[in-house]
Amino acid sequence: MSVEQLEIDALRLKVEQLTEQLMQSEKLASLGQLAAGVAHEINNPIGYVASNLSSLSQYTDNLMMLIQQMSELLPIDKTYNLKQLSDFEYIKQDLPTLLAQSQAGLKRVIDIIIDLKDFSHLDDAEFIDIDLHLGIHSTLNIIDHELKYKAEVQKVFSDLPLVRCVPSQVNQVLLNLLLNAVQAFNKRGIIIISTGSNESWVWFSVKDNGPGIPEDKLEQIFQPFYTTKAKGQGTGLGLALSRSIIDKHLGVLEATSKLGFGSCFTVKLPRK
Ligand SMILES: Nc1ncnc2c1ncn2[C@@H]1O[C@H](COP(=O)(O)OP(=O)(O)OP(=O)(O)O)[C@@H](O)[C@H]1O
Ligand SMILES: [Mg+2]
Repeated sequence: MSVEQLEIDALRLKVEQLTEQLMQSEKLASLGQLAAGVAHEINNPIGYVASNLSSLSQYTDNLMMLIQQMSELLPIDKTYNLKQLSDFEYIKQDLPTLLAQSQAGLKRVIDIIIDLKDFSHLDDAEFIDIDLHLGIHSTLNIIDHELKYKAEVQKVFSDLPLVRCVPSQVNQVLLNLLLNAVQAFNKRGIIIISTGSNESWVWFSVKDNGPGIPEDKLEQIFQPFYTTKAKGQGTGLGLALSRSIIDKHLGVLEATSKLGFGSCFTVKLPRK
């Protein structure tokens, strides 16, 4: 095969890889849009359910008071029979609990909606100044269900200055790093998310106590399609995409690891 042919093949491969990468990032972008759209649609009905529940709670208190006062006007044995019939004492005890639980559940749904909106930030293809901790919290809330059974997440946060970035993209990077960490665990593990800053950078890191990565693979893992996961479980694009996002931010995404002890991925974003 001629040198030209080899170069053409290499170029073709590169174009195919970049196209795949682009498709993946567009997929992520439309996933973000979908999430934001769903969050927006749910927001309205949840709003009036929350408001109705709060009125219901108030009305219930009033009704209970009314029943109490009316029952004092009736002969004792009649009141007793009526209350027995309707299971009144049980209802009186259970109602506030039911209402409080429903309100707590609803609050959780509302928090998730707010986080989904923060996470996908439809309107922010642009760079804005943000507090990284907000993005970390909303990302953690989004994948709480993935993490909670497989890992204990510890946070070691420092005071951070605002940092200029595209929040949805940085959230996406953190999501990839967290998913990689839990996916690497053979048993329940510990993930430590740390943050900090110096005169040049604002940074966060995701450290796990998983199996670690062989030293000679530490750069390879950032190449598109490099994966050790079973077919259909990983495309090998998470880190490649994450690095290209951080490159666009003029930042650094780097990894350190020790086999048998775990890995640490650090994202550094430039201070203004
Ligand atoms: N925290 C980690 N611990 C151990 N190995 C890791 C860790 N993070 C990444 N790796 C290794 O790097 C490889 C590439 O990661 P990357 O996120 O790019 O792709 P993937 O997770 O395999 O697939 P995808 O992210 O596309 O679903 C992984 O398959 C795994 O071998
Ligand atoms: Mg991955």
